[in-house]
Amino acid sequence: MMRTRPLKVALLGCGVVGSEVARIMTTHADDLAARIGAPVELAGIAVRRPDKVREGIPAELVTTDAMALVKRGDLDVVVEMIGGIEPARGLITTALEHGASVVSANKALVAADGAALHAAAEASDADLYYEAAVAGAIPLVRPLRESLAGDKVNRVLGIVNGTTNFILDKMDTSGAGYSEALDEATALGYAEADPTADVEGFDAAAKAAILAGIAFHTRVTIDDVHREGLTEVTAADIASAKRMGCTVKLLAICERAAHGGSVTARVHPAMIPLSHPLASVRGAYNAVFIEADAAGRLMFYGPGAGGSPTASAVLGDLVAVCRNKVAGTTGPGESAYTALPVSPMGEVVTRYHISLDVADKPGVLAQVAMVFAEHGVSIDTVRQQGKDGEASLVVVTHRAADAALSSTVGALRELDTVRGVASIMRVEGE
Ligand code: NDP
Ligand code: HSE
Repeated sequence: MMRTRPLKVALLGCGVVGSEVARIMTTHADDLAARIGAPVELAGIAVRRPDKVREGIPAELVTTDAMALVKRGDLDVVVEMIGGIEPARGLITTALEHGASVVSANKALVAADGAALHAAAEASDADLYYEAAVAGAIPLVRPLRESLAGDKVNRVLGIVNGTTNFILDKMDTSGAGYSEALDEATALGYAEADPTADVEGFDAAAKAAILAGIAFHTRVTIDDVHREGLTEVTAADIASAKRMGCTVKLLAICERAAHGGSVTARVHPAMIPLSHPLASVRGAYNAVFIEADAAGRLMFYGPGAGGSPTASAVLGDLVAVCRNKVAGTTGPGESAYTALPVSPMGEVVTRYHISLDVADKPGVLAQVAMVFAEHGVSIDTVRQQGKDGEASLVVVTHRAADAALSSTVGALRELDTVRGVASIMRVEGE
């Protein structure tokens, strides 16, 4: 039966994502009301620039005083699509204190302060949902939190940043330059307000923290995630990956240790074989594998950024929290009962591709191989190309601990015959 009193919803932010949310709320109002069991009314929209032309947005709903909007006291749901830590954190906390449920797309904030926000939601008997914070349109947060709640997740691995995947794809397939590809991703609305968050891996690290926390029922913040962006990836790395039958992707990898007593979370560029399903994830698409005891291996794939795809995830959350409001209940909150520690990157075990510039003379290869052996890092393949008394040596290792690899590289740098370490990249997905 349809409830007649409308649910009042405030939007904070009306940019790339917010404008699409407002559009869908308006054009699909009847369907949303039928699915929720109550009409949904837009009660106000907070922005920074009130005079900006916003097609389809009633001017009387627009305000620059976001705090006054969330303090109104009659709101059922606040949808935060401003981004960043402040003022988003203060606005969300105030909205929760005033009894509104909150839907957010803000991974930076959830990854930095998720525990406190969940506590505020619980104290107010309100919901805090953030499906859109991870991988755009792809349902991941709810499947992990609800569908897989009875299973034991051991690994989450994937591409969770659309901007960097778009850039790497462009550099790989069309030979586009890094800056040109980043400008295009920004113009298409994929990049964060400060694209450094994308290219330096902060955005993917925030998503990795959120996924690890939910997957392993523990608390992981962005500071726990080992992070390397793609600014160090060169055209030579991409060409070298191609020669090995691989491509380069920025990956987020969250793992439960084999002994089960700790977890790791990391974001870095990695080479993956062209035969791996992640290699064919193009443009701003994302894809995530989840490996669980009973379910086995699941793959989630779809648009990872952009206004309309992200609005789909926001609207899904909006319907869910509105349904809870109508039923007088709340959905599942934070589950962090395992309290597993996060191990340092040095304990991560994987394979490596190391490119060295060396002197092209007898005994150099043996010297280099000895350094690897002394540090317990086993070599899988070696490729050498010589030119004018210098040579480029590409070594691919078997699985080794990150700490062992770091000390190997440190010792290689000390050798007179090693002119430089041109690049070090992890090899995943084999
Ligand atoms: P935009 O920069 O396009 O929009 C931000 C909006 O917030 C604008 O409408 C801006 O107002 C408003 N705003 C900024 N500061 C304030 C303030 N102090 N008070 C009130 N309003 C303010 O960002 P996006 O839409 O791209 O991103 C929003 C959120 O969604 C971020 O958390 C982002 O990480 C997340 N997200 C984005 C995705 C994407 O593909 N773009 C995908 C998934 C998540 P004004 O319009 O006047 O400038
Ligand atoms: N800047 C983000 C990305 C938006 O490129 O993936 C989606 O979270």
